[in-house]
Amino acid sequence: QELQLSLEQIEKKGYDHFMLKEIYEQPSAILDTFRGRLLPNEGIIKMSGIEDNLSKFLNANRIVIVACGTSWHAGLVAEYLFEDLARIPVEVEYASEFRYRNPVIKRDDVVIAISQSGETADTLAAIKLAKSMGAFVFGVCNVVGSSIARETNAGAYTHAGPEIGVASTKAFTTQITVLTLIALRLANAKGTLSTSDYKKCLFDLEAIPRRVEEVLDVNDQIVKIAENYSDVANCLYLGRKYNFPVALEGALKLKEISYIHAEGYPAAEMKHGPIALIDEQMPVVVIATKKGNYEKIVSNIQEIKSRRGRIIAVVTQGDTMIKEMADYAIEIPETVEFLTPLIATIPLQLLSYHIAVMRGCNVDQPRNLAKSVTVE
Ligand code: G6P
Repeated sequence: QELQLSLEQIEKKGYDHFMLKEIYEQPSAILDTFRGRLLPNEGIIKMSGIEDNLSKFLNANRIVIVACGTSWHAGLVAEYLFEDLARIPVEVEYASEFRYRNPVIKRDDVVIAISQSGETADTLAAIKLAKSMGAFVFGVCNVVGSSIARETNAGAYTHAGPEIGVASTKAFTTQITVLTLIALRLANAKGTLSTSDYKKCLFDLEAIPRRVEEVLDVNDQIVKIAENYSDVANCLYLGRKYNFPVALEGALKLKEISYIHAEGYPAAEMKHGPIALIDEQMPVVVIATKKGNYEKIVSNIQEIKSRRGRIIAVVTQGDTMIKEMADYAIEIPETVEFLTPLIATIPLQLLSYHIAVMRGCNVDQPRNLAKSVTVE
């Protein structure tokens, strides 16, 4: 027992929880994800799983992404990336619904399965179904040699290192990193990005670990914010475009580890339902970075404010307008729009972590949840 405990402490490297350690590992995990693959000076992305199957991706009718939980949110980010950068139509499916919906899959569909563990039963079943219908299936997994990695026709590992905390953090940002590399490579091959724009994107991506390092500095501020929100019963998360999946993931993190009811919504959908919930009791986390329909999100914030909702805003460094309107503003470094999820996710991970710790919850092993769900 004692030996067990000290081993665990050693593994936590001085952090109170694996989740916090894994949040802080993100700059190096993202770097490991693109090590040897992202070569900005040469203007290339090298991924054998993509190069060997390039024609399949380029001739694809569409890309269908299947995943569960946090990995499904990474899939939603990828939908924006592939459509925006490479102009390939994308559908994102919960693996469990996909397998039971009698889906229409054709030989020229490319299916991407995303899974940290590589063992999720529903995702594995969706892969088998897609393969049986003739689709080419590409895996994005973290665990090397896992069932999904073996079952797929080709793939790319995230190389995030072991993720112990049940709530996924570094697996999510490294999944997005791999998917960004793929989207950029396809954009380059299809010519949807000019050579100079492509090269600039590679340098922007290369700078992300440094930006993530910077954003981790908001931790002390987030502790103070968490003190004011640890006793809430509900929380709403709003974002638009690339920040919509970030809102979903922020809400999922909070409910997983703090047991606070939280919902993520595309900010414009607020008027079709959630606005009815807003009063002085309702905290609303708004991801309101400079790029991504800024004016529209400002008007969403005004709507919340006029109903006396309590606003925590994630804003771009130097923002003044939203800072004046929000109860709390968390400033994050600026980056190009398509890379925003990699930065904006970090403060939301920290917020849920600190709220859960303050509520005395078992952060690394939340009740009723498992790290890998190998049953239906
Ligand atoms: C479980 C975990 C989640 C994870 C999901 C999908 O629910 O608790 O953190 O996102 O499974 O897991 P996968 O290993 O397929 O990414």
